[in-house]
Amino acid sequence: MGHDLVIVANRLPVDRVTDARGKAAWRRSPGGLVSAIEPVMRAHDGVWIGWPGGTGQRLKPLKIDGLDLVPLSMTADEIEEHYEGFSNGTLWPLYHDVVAKPEFHREWWDTYVKVNRRFAESAAELAAPNATVWVHDYQLQLVPQMLRELRPDLRIGFYLHIPFPPAELFQQLPWRRQILEGLLGADLIGFQLPGAAQNFIRLVRQRVGHKTHRDLVYLPDGRTVRAAAFPISIDAAGFEELANSPAVRDRADAIREALGNPKKIFLGIDRLDYTKGIYARLRAFGELISDGALTVDDAVFVQVAVPSRERVEHYRNLRDDIERLVGRLNGDLGRIGRPAISYLHTSYPREEMAALYRAADVMVVTPYRDGMNLVAKEYVACRTDEDGALVLSEFAGAADELRQAWLVNPYDMNGMKAALLEAYGAEPKELTRRMRAMRRQIAQHDVKAWADSFMTELTDVEHSHSKTV
Ligand code: G6P
Repeated sequence: MGHDLVIVANRLPVDRVTDARGKAAWRRSPGGLVSAIEPVMRAHDGVWIGWPGGTGQRLKPLKIDGLDLVPLSMTADEIEEHYEGFSNGTLWPLYHDVVAKPEFHREWWDTYVKVNRRFAESAAELAAPNATVWVHDYQLQLVPQMLRELRPDLRIGFYLHIPFPPAELFQQLPWRRQILEGLLGADLIGFQLPGAAQNFIRLVRQRVGHKTHRDLVYLPDGRTVRAAAFPISIDAAGFEELANSPAVRDRADAIREALGNPKKIFLGIDRLDYTKGIYARLRAFGELISDGALTVDDAVFVQVAVPSRERVEHYRNLRDDIERLVGRLNGDLGRIGRPAISYLHTSYPREEMAALYRAADVMVVTPYRDGMNLVAKEYVACRTDEDGALVLSEFAGAADELRQAWLVNPYDMNGMKAALLEAYGAEPKELTRRMRAMRRQIAQHDVKAWADSFMTELTDVEHSHSKTV
């Protein structure tokens, strides 16, 4: 017995939450990955292995909305060393251009190995003979190799949702060779962009010494591994439908009114993460007001900062910095009933996000480095009237596809100010020309196309068994 498809990701598509009376329950997490993978899971009798968040006792496998889920618990030490430590204190900053300084601790690495092994063992137990296993993201890069050792019959895919850095940065990692070898356990390794796949192939050649040709790696045991780009996307039709619903239209009107019907609304929605460039964009907007290029009657900036990884020091410091800046800008530039920035530290359901996207005239997405950035794509999908401006960092993966956005370098303060002002003042015809082209792109490359193309490639990849097993 067993499952024909096993999804392995650090997080389950549900969270274990405890209500005010201390009663625990499951809540579906709103992530886009679930909606992409759900149809594939249903078609293949799939099961999803992941961490349900928080520490906790062993939880039994469960079925939610017909999806088979297997929770893997983590101890407090494992959360500290695997999740907060190696994943988010070492790999996350290292893979995002060292925007913050990565920390290298041997105990974190040891726990990363231990937790990866637990995920691999669980996948090995649940997979049917010759099944397909699809492993996700930087928290689990050792799983492909560990799993192949346990179950050489499996077809293994790996997808990295975040950037893969150039060799010059990756080389800093004391465990660089182990990570590369861990990934090479897969038959197919997917990245967001072609440049990331090239970075990986180059490192494998230089650091592990395997032969490579274009997107293929030839292993000494006779296996071939393919590394290629599969840019992720969103459920474009789903967002469009939501944005067109009467409830969301009404809510968008209510948001504009609650903000005092300013001429234009600028919007940022991000996890509160130092890679996102939130501080710099708010400063740019603040300078436009203090320069007199904009006034608080012309425009308000709504910034939604979604709480994230709050126990990691970099994240706590970032929150303090941003909130100090918001306070200062509002104190210096606002007047009663007209703050410069409307700041919200919270997360919202999809409906409220769609209403915010509908209400906003200028969407501002300015990461220093981002694997893709789905917020940019969601904004485009929700602009069913073909208006609205997108200001987008050239360092987000999405910039490869959304060429008609106002592309900016988030390190260039004056460049960012100029782009914000241009987007603010753009003629309706210009907005439509740009938005129409971006909408076409997103409609043609939605998340279903992403999941289908990865699964098709994984099925097609030459499945040669290792000669040594
Ligand atoms: C990024 C990562 C995901 C991660 C998500 C939320 O999108 O690629 O793997 O799950 O952020 O972060 P968290 O640490 O809360 O899981």
